Amino acid sequence: MIKVMAVFGTRPEVIKMAPVVLELKKHVHSVETIVAVTAQHRQMLDQVLHLFKIKPDYDLDIMAQGQTLFDITSRAMMGLKEVLEREKPDLVLVHGDTTTTFAGALASYYEQVPVGHVEAGLRTGDIYSPFPEEMNRKLTGSIAAFHFAPTMRAKENLLRENVNERSVYVTGNTVIDALMKTVRHDYDFADESLRSVDFEHRRVILLTTHRRENLGEPMRHIYRALRSIVNEIDDTEIVFPVHRNPLVRKVVNEELAGLDRIHLIEPLDYEPFANLMSRSYLVLTDSGGIQEEAPSLGKPVLVLRNTTERPEAVKAGTVALIGTEKDVVYNMTKHLLTDAAAYSAMSNAVNPYGDGKSSERIVQAILHELTGSRSRPDEFL
Ligand code: UD1
Ligand code: UDP
Repeated sequence: MIKVMAVFGTRPEVIKMAPVVLELKKHVHSVETIVAVTAQHRQMLDQVLHLFKIKPDYDLDIMAQGQTLFDITSRAMMGLKEVLEREKPDLVLVHGDTTTTFAGALASYYEQVPVGHVEAGLRTGDIYSPFPEEMNRKLTGSIAAFHFAPTMRAKENLLRENVNERSVYVTGNTVIDALMKTVRHDYDFADESLRSVDFEHRRVILLTTHRRENLGEPMRHIYRALRSIVNEIDDTEIVFPVHRNPLVRKVVNEELAGLDRIHLIEPLDYEPFANLMSRSYLVLTDSGGIQEEAPSLGKPVLVLRNTTERPEAVKAGTVALIGTEKDVVYNMTKHLLTDAAAYSAMSNAVNPYGDGKSSERIVQAILHELTGSRSRPDEFL
């Protein structure tokens, strides 16, 4: 019997770790699964825990309004120390690149518990973009004993950093496992906030923004560009589930509140959000996860950032990196809305990030490494 503890704290981590936790729980005779959440996010974490019916064994409840990186790191570290001392797991799993991820890895290292890094090896090569995620994932990668890289390219990034090849597993991204369980063609939107969206007669642009480096002026530019688009092109509507960060909300309210055909709504539960994505015409976002999900739904994505650690879908042609300059955002969005050929060239469904079996591969790799009861899983290609 091995004890595996999953540590996570934000919305994207729970979406992407839920399939792994549920898969681990299938192996009740060989794995004891513990879930410890920092709750770096509160409401946005609980929304997804509820959907996937995951009840954390430990909840550090660290979130504070307007928290700093210092707050998150120190509170998570102190809370995790106690949990690790009490549970003494054989392996800690962390996900991706948030500050919870890094704190989870560092706390495990201090307690000399090996770490498995899910979604390992993503890199932009710029430690300030995205900030602090690029450094969080690099430091987590230095600590990890096992690296679950979503793509071959992520594995190559790790090998360039001299990570031992045997410790790297190419698994696909678990976000596609979650997405495949969630999107349904006959999905009926029960959310009040989506009732007034005219999916039938208008083209829906889905917008999300939250990156720290986009707070303030870059977000203002984005919103002004999109305000002009909706003014000019009658058959468009914007649906914008606004992140709970008060710094995001301030600029959103200043630039977009009260405008026709712009729906500013609360963050959606994952189920309605994923189905909204699949009914949208176009996605504009600075999110990491949405860059992975939308291509597999055949939705063109304009990425509101200057760098991406997810070049696979850019290469496949469904994602374009456009930055945050007002004129560029306006021109690129208008181009896709007015040039049918350009739109259709970007709207091919591609699956560079996963096939829905990533969590199975990860659990097989864990059993292979820790119990020897399974063979090494085949790589996701
Ligand atoms: C965090 C991660 C980022 C990830 C993003 C996903 C870090 C440093 N940042 O950024 O990598 O892409 O989550 O969304 O790890 N808030 C609430 N309720 C919630 C969530 C947030 O009120 O459920 C508010 C709080 O005021 C909080 C603020 O949002 O202080 C910012 O949250 P924080 O986790 O620090 O940063 P994010 O921008 O969410
Ligand atoms: N998402 C959601 N509800 C929303 C907006 C996003 O469930 O209102 C999901 C989305 O499908 C994706 C994840 O949240 O799986 C992305 O989270 P976010 O953009 O906050 O973080 P990132 O991926 O950039 O770290």
